[in-house]
Amino acid sequence: MMDILSEKKIEDFVLDMDAPSFLVDPHPTFRWLRENAPVYQWQARQAVVISRYRDVKAMLADRRFSNNYRLWEFAPPEQWPPELADFQRLIDNGLSLLPDHRHGPVRKLVSSTMSARSVERMQACIQEAIDELLEQSISENRLDVAKFAGLLPSRVICDLLAIPLDMRDDLCAFGLAAARSANIALPIDEIFAAISPTPRWVAMLRRVINDRRDNPRADDLLSTLIDARDEGAKLSEDELLSLVFAFFVAGGDATKNGIAWAVHTLLHHPADLAAVQRDPSLLRNAVEETLRFDMFAKTGFPKYCTEAMDFAGIPLRKGQMVIPLLTAALRDEEAFPNPDHFDIRRDLRHTISFGAGQHTCLGAALARMQLLTAVSSLLSRFPEMKPLGEPEFEPHPLMRSMKKYEVAIR
Ligand code: HEM
Repeated sequence: MMDILSEKKIEDFVLDMDAPSFLVDPHPTFRWLRENAPVYQWQARQAVVISRYRDVKAMLADRRFSNNYRLWEFAPPEQWPPELADFQRLIDNGLSLLPDHRHGPVRKLVSSTMSARSVERMQACIQEAIDELLEQSISENRLDVAKFAGLLPSRVICDLLAIPLDMRDDLCAFGLAAARSANIALPIDEIFAAISPTPRWVAMLRRVINDRRDNPRADDLLSTLIDARDEGAKLSEDELLSLVFAFFVAGGDATKNGIAWAVHTLLHHPADLAAVQRDPSLLRNAVEETLRFDMFAKTGFPKYCTEAMDFAGIPLRKGQMVIPLLTAALRDEEAFPNPDHFDIRRDLRHTISFGAGQHTCLGAALARMQLLTAVSSLLSRFPEMKPLGEPEFEPHPLMRSMKKYEVAIR
């Protein structure tokens, strides 16, 4: 793959993120882009993609790029059916689209709730979920890591928010439908169909929030969010609803694939795995390195130019879609020496697996804690774990998402 690609001329190069070879190993493609077309016109998506670390980092810090998809020069006219008006409100009041004068205050209000220190207190709850879910995912001497990892994030978020048991399946289905339809390239009818149960789902979310306001608890994330105040300012009702919704949408597939690919990378590097098993204090950095070495994201979140500008040596139009390729940037030699080497002791202070700048991942500490606790539990329970073949993939607009990844556990 590598050799064939490295000789490709730009006019012959096709960026196909659903090709089976790309799903198995996207890095030759990303390297070709970094080396031959660091600012690449992706005709199929009517977008520009950028792949070098320095450009991606600069873009994420640059407020002339916005997350607001309505600024796209080719944005289709939005005609939301009246029954989906609630969905539109959820989106409009969510962190991605809030105008700057609300985005900052909302992040400030909730940042301590999601900080590394707050998340430390969630570890026992995460561990309990892992122990239970592992039992459900083992059959005979095999464990489907993708299945286990897929069950964990929604279970954790439901536990942390103390969602009543009878609402959990619905709210998780809502999160999944919203996450998988958050793709401007999909036909609008397909998006509307996926989220058609919105009125029932939103009514459920409102009920949970109202019940909790009337019956606050001492130890749950939702009561903390309801109470979050900063010098008298607090979240509006719509912002609170959107934030709770975002926890269901944003963390699911990403955390699942983070765990599954971390296990995959470690199992393919037996010497490093052995080092981690000998010295578990190496695990935190090793897990972070798995997110750099083989990040599961096909693309980062698309951004839209709020004005015409020169960027990374090329002119960009107002309204142009620009997609940062985090996974490509994380293998850029300029930022990570010997980038194709999996190095569990690497200095990762400048990593961008969770984005950077204004929209950097709000759930990063929670995701890291889930990854670390899950991988550590797997390694200590199944020290002889071995892969049983390679992962099977499922269609996914944003990720190389595993459908199945079986390992032998004894
Ligand atoms: C391995 C797991 C995860 C990865 C790799 C990841 C990655 C990211 C990235 C790259 C962004 C930036 C998007 C942008 O540039 O606009 C982001 C934003 C966000 N993430 Fe995560 N994420 C993960 C898990 C989670 C979890 C568990 C939660 C919460 C339960 C979460 C909540 C959010 C939210 C709310 C935002 C939007 C922040 C804003 O716009 O200000 N994420 N995430």
